[in-house]
Amino acid sequence: MKNDLMEKIVNLCKNKGFINLSSEPYGGFSSCYDYGPLGVVLKNNIKKAWWEEMTCHQENIVGLDAAILMSPKVWEASGHLTAGFADELMECKKCHKRFRVESKITSKKLPEEIIEHIKTEHPEIEMEPIEFKSVITERRKFNLMMKTFVGPVENEASLTYLRAETCQGIYMNFNWVKNAMRLKIPFGIAQIGKAFRNEITPGNFIYRTREFEQMEMQFFVNPKEADKWFDYWKETRMKWYLNLGIKKENLRFHEHEKKELAHYARKAIDIEYKFPFGWNEIEGIHNRGDWDLSNHSKASGQDLSYFEEEKKEKYIPYIIETSAGADRSLLAFLIDAYFEVKGGRTETTESVKEIEIVLKLDKKLSPVKVAVFPLVKNKKDLTKKSEEVYNLLRNKFLVQYDEIGSIGRRYRRQDEIGTPYCLTIDFQTLKDNTVTVRDRDTMKQERVKIDKLNDTLVF
Ligand code: GAP
Repeated sequence: MKNDLMEKIVNLCKNKGFINLSSEPYGGFSSCYDYGPLGVVLKNNIKKAWWEEMTCHQENIVGLDAAILMSPKVWEASGHLTAGFADELMECKKCHKRFRVESKITSKKLPEEIIEHIKTEHPEIEMEPIEFKSVITERRKFNLMMKTFVGPVENEASLTYLRAETCQGIYMNFNWVKNAMRLKIPFGIAQIGKAFRNEITPGNFIYRTREFEQMEMQFFVNPKEADKWFDYWKETRMKWYLNLGIKKENLRFHEHEKKELAHYARKAIDIEYKFPFGWNEIEGIHNRGDWDLSNHSKASGQDLSYFEEEKKEKYIPYIIETSAGADRSLLAFLIDAYFEVKGGRTETTESVKEIEIVLKLDKKLSPVKVAVFPLVKNKKDLTKKSEEVYNLLRNKFLVQYDEIGSIGRRYRRQDEIGTPYCLTIDFQTLKDNTVTVRDRDTMKQERVKIDKLNDTLVF
């Protein structure tokens, strides 16, 4: 990952307590990442915004939290154990490093990544002309399911898989949820949870990892209305990212060509974000047709069809799926919010030539909502009053108390983590119970009565 901006984002995430390597004392592990004190709150805020959008703002969608471990029969019927859920790879014959290859690449023309690998790791190999068969294997399929064993005996009978997509848990509960909640088509079931894929080439920080979190909603519709609902969800999901502040020019749709379609999909459109490493998917909207419910009906023997009372029509519902990555969208939100201001945004006694970082996250997403500063730390009256204000607010949202360094320095620290408001308690506070509220984006300061803070601090 040579990209300058990505390097800055990774450093910021590490230095400010957002994201770090998993198993760090051992040098990290297999492209897995841990979310720190600010990262976990940011991710929770994204998930909360998604959950509220789906289960409160949209009609007829209910929530679910299914188990990660399921019967292996689920994955047989869903098609994930066969060639359908596999990436194509080529392997270096010298060191056995594997490379994921896109379907459009022919084996005669080696991908850049492989050429780079040979040049740097095996410089003894002549590049011109390269006889790739002596160095790299032919393309072959590699299944992405992660195996695990359930119970004390490790044998075929105890073998199952970590779920590769959360939606299969939704299909398993289709009848139960529909009946228990007396749902009528069109209706949706939403779920957030971990998924696992043995990706050949994870990379770009948290963009492609082997353990990740999905926010998936499955909308069950009459097959005749599938196109209408596909268009509805495509537009609705794009608006969600825009409403949470991602810049329009950094988002686009990408419709899958037939050969790109996943094994379950009749039609698929990705929402792509313009990452520093190129346009890449953050969410997929799929028309899965009756693939899943039909296959599970056949394999399990349970009837997963639906009877539409008004039309006296029985059918296997089509599924319109919206499948977003919590980690990928978090990365997009971070990158989009990252701004550098050269030459001093805030007044400090330090060099004005310093670059200041501001994370202009949507206020709903910012992990720390408010920071409270006493003007100086060595005046007991000021620190006491500041602690009072801090205690008043911290029951409602994440608040930081900071008394170290100049006020300008403290503003900077909060700007870097995207805190929307900073409150300063000064000598005037002691006279009239007002504090200075400084807005992250406009940098405007206004005096507000402490008992009116609720009206000013809006998220
Ligand atoms: N149920 C459909 C499904 O899983 P997908 O396009 O394979 O569709 C949906 O994945 C979303 O899940 C992606 O848009 C991405 O945000 C996230 N995702 C998939 N694989 C991922 C990985 N290896 N690392 C991080 N996020 C991933």
